[in-house]
Amino acid sequence: MLSAMSAPQGQGPSFRELVVQALSSVERGYDLLAPKFDHTAYRTSASVLDSVAGALRPLGPFRSGLDVCCGTGAGLGVLRRVCRERITGVDFSAGMLAVGRDRSRTVPDIPPTHWVRADARALPFGPVFDLAVSFGAFGHFLPRERPGLFAQVHSVLRPGGRFAFPIVAPARPGSRPYWSLLAFDTAMRVRNAVWRPRFVMYYRTFRLADVREELIGAGFEVGLRALEDLGRRADGSPRCRLVVATRPV
Ligand SMILES: C[S@@+](CC[C@H](N)C(=O)[O-])C[C@H]1O[C@@H](n2cnc3c(N)ncnc32)[C@H](O)[C@@H]1O
Repeated sequence: MLSAMSAPQGQGPSFRELVVQALSSVERGYDLLAPKFDHTAYRTSASVLDSVAGALRPLGPFRSGLDVCCGTGAGLGVLRRVCRERITGVDFSAGMLAVGRDRSRTVPDIPPTHWVRADARALPFGPVFDLAVSFGAFGHFLPRERPGLFAQVHSVLRPGGRFAFPIVAPARPGSRPYWSLLAFDTAMRVRNAVWRPRFVMYYRTFRLADVREELIGAGFEVGLRALEDLGRRADGSPRCRLVVATRPV
């Protein structure tokens, strides 16, 4: 949130706007934030998008691609680079979709892009995609919702299709990021205990070991790749990995 507020003056949301957003539901909150979303730190950074596109390229080319919780379309840029046919973004915020659709009209020579308003927990597609990606949205799902979410993504992939997303190494216990994320999640839990509608956004609930088990439970085969261009930590482990879950043929 603080980094979102440090966007160039006049472009990012004001403190008041962020507070109003945080007191709304997730869907309404993103509708409100949409016009300024691309100037916040919530949009996935170009370095992560580039790194994921680079890691996906040797696995492709893919035909059709889906960006789950696409927002204003950060992940659609990745799909444009690795998919040859139609690409689709799905999100439940009409405001985010409208901003993404408007901006994409100004980009020349891009393949047809479909912007679909739907809840990722009930995807309105058959098994038509070769690749699904998702960026920056898993914190909006409670752990108990994830098996259903992964089953939904599995159901919209063709046999052999891939579901890929980056996952950041957890902050070291006792480090500054560790305490910041703990403080954020605790504040969210307090907010959700006393205020309706709930705003589900937790940073510390998306753990690789659990996610891997849940993907396997949904029928995927799961592989991991280090995203080397995003660097390594002092102990040599990657800062960020790409999860590549494959629907078996
Ligand atoms: C932090 S934004 C990320 C947007 C984009 N993927 C990016 O990386 O810039 C999270 C997005 O998830 C969407 N979202 C959250 N829960 C959702 C759900 N259940 N179904 C569809 N979209 C959802 C929000 O509307 C929002 O656009």
